[in-house]
Amino acid sequence: MEIDLRGSWFVGSVEIPTRLVLAPMAGVSVQAFRRQGRRFGAGLVCSEMVSCAGIEHRNERTLGYLRVASDEHPLAIQLFGSDPAVMAEAARMVEAAGADIVDINFGCPVRKVTRTGAGATLLEQPRLASRIVEAIAGAVDLPVSVKMRRGLRDGSRTCLEVGPQLVAAGASVLTLHPRSAQQMYTGTADHALTAELVSLVDVPVIASGDITSHARAQVVLATTGAAAVMVGRGAQGNPWALREIVDGDPPDPTQEEVVAELILFIRETVRELGERRASGFLKKFYGWYLRRGRFPRAFTQKVVVLGATADVESALLAAAPGAAPLLAQLEAELPTGDEVTLELPISIYGGG
Ligand SMILES: Cc1cc2nc3c(=O)[nH]c(=O)nc-3n(C[C@H](O)[C@H](O)[C@H](O)COP(=O)(O)O)c2cc1C
Repeated sequence: MEIDLRGSWFVGSVEIPTRLVLAPMAGVSVQAFRRQGRRFGAGLVCSEMVSCAGIEHRNERTLGYLRVASDEHPLAIQLFGSDPAVMAEAARMVEAAGADIVDINFGCPVRKVTRTGAGATLLEQPRLASRIVEAIAGAVDLPVSVKMRRGLRDGSRTCLEVGPQLVAAGASVLTLHPRSAQQMYTGTADHALTAELVSLVDVPVIASGDITSHARAQVVLATTGAAAVMVGRGAQGNPWALREIVDGDPPDPTQEEVVAELILFIRETVRELGERRASGFLKKFYGWYLRRGRFPRAFTQKVVVLGATADVESALLAAAPGAAPLLAQLEAELPTGDEVTLELPISIYGGG
């Protein structure tokens, strides 16, 4: 029997309206990505990982990650760090910023992060990991979630030992990406491990890894007992994949729809990051979107080398003039002027 991904479920007392969660992705999960994810069917969206040390030192760019828009809820903000007291303080700021859930990163395999004792290395230190969860759960009223990998080395089953301890320490939900840190993104996600984790804990589990279609989501939910699936790479430049995963079988987007979504994404990202940072940041998205829209490779190559985002917009509209009214409609539907912001210097968005 089909599982209804439009069914709601709970993380603590927070209701999540669908069984699809948009993955946190460093260098991808800007506000535009999260708002778009919510529009296309994600029940929960997540910020990319935010450094607790950056928050502690009031680093402007780090604080910029704590901006929450009214149409993102429910939203989790993800923290990484290794000092329980510093992480608890950062969690208080996450709560003040208006997030619904504090998420802790125990999965990042990247050396720059693991070297500091944060991310996936904490899976090998369950006592410290538990103290971090306990400190954060004690510091905020929000539910605490933890995202982890299977362990550090290939074949590791560490997550099955650590997961229940983190729940005992106060985690209200666990997300498992069942690859090892060593694997990075190679091989496949072993969701047999997700099923084992589900059987060991009495909180919901989110299954992350290689979920790119409605059919795959159905199989993973049915065979693991997970409460929801998380989608990462499949949603890069492809919000239509989210709609397909939730509802199954929608028509392919037209080139006009792809261009309208991309231009909206560009405009929102420029507002968030400033033109200078956004113009570099956005380049990877051009390739992702234009591939989805089946534009010729030569066109993508032409767009990627353009400097100013205004020139990119012009090139896109020249290639798909019918996108203009769609874009106007999308912009008219967006809420304006009601964003929840911290009292932050505005230079964050142009700087760095
Ligand atoms: C570019 C990129 C950045 C990522 N950044 C984060 C991150 O900041 N925090 C995190 O918990 N996971 C991060 N991940 C892992 C994803 O959230 C997800 O667990 C993983 O990509 C597997 O899901 P997928 O197969 O749907 O992509 C990242 C993945 C990618 C590809």
